Amino acid sequence: MEKLQQLYEGKAKKVYATADPDLVIVSYKDDATAFDGLKKGTILGKGAINNQMTNFLMQKLAAAGVPTHFVEELNERETVVKKVSIVPLEVIIRNVSAGSFAKRYGVKEGIVFDSPSFEFSYKNDDLHDPLMSEYHAVALKLATWEEIELIRKYAFQVNDFLKAELLACGVTLVDFKLEFGKTSDGTIVLADEISPDTCRFWDARTGEKLDKDRFRRDLGNVEGAYQEMARRLMGR
Ligand code: TMP
Repeated sequence: MEKLQQLYEGKAKKVYATADPDLVIVSYKDDATAFDGLKKGTILGKGAINNQMTNFLMQKLAAAGVPTHFVEELNERETVVKKVSIVPLEVIIRNVSAGSFAKRYGVKEGIVFDSPSFEFSYKNDDLHDPLMSEYHAVALKLATWEEIELIRKYAFQVNDFLKAELLACGVTLVDFKLEFGKTSDGTIVLADEISPDTCRFWDARTGEKLDKDRFRRDLGNVEGAYQEMARRLMGR
């Protein structure tokens, strides 16, 4: 399958048309941003790792009953996916306090929750992705109640699957962000990526951060953390 014209360029990926109107090709970049694009940088090899890790996990999730946009990995950085319209909600599940949760409530990072938390943010960089209730999402017609229920169910399935998969690799799944899309026939599928860009991964024994927080917080050895996660999850 060949790339035709570029349809979209985001902060971490480009999207190209294909000859099939229902399929697009995503191409993962090494570009990294944080704080709504204010901080910019490059994480060498990130595009390839995020592409392969996302595809590895999405294929397993599909087998576990979560429909995804994945179709076929083309090469290191490029994948054919179903064309979707992205539901403009960032779906965030947290198992342990960290990041904006710790900041918002004035608590330390590392509190293990008895029950995972679920939230939406409105996907809008100009507004800094504000927290959004389900009622607001429905009021703004970003999704229907049925779609929200389905998204919530899939997100918790992803959490159960991912938590177990990572624990087996000696990694604690602290939190993560998912995005869902709607295909041309209206089916809700898991889209975007699942990678160290979009999850917090802590070494289960030492607590070492193995994700994009190393870039956000200038902790050093960013590339090493991405490579370590690729090695642990996919053995490469
Ligand atoms: P937060 O604690 O900053 O709200 O982040 C929660 C999770 O979402 C964390 O795993 C990182 C991920 N995330 C993204 O994927 N994109 C973003 O723009 C932000 C702010 C967080």
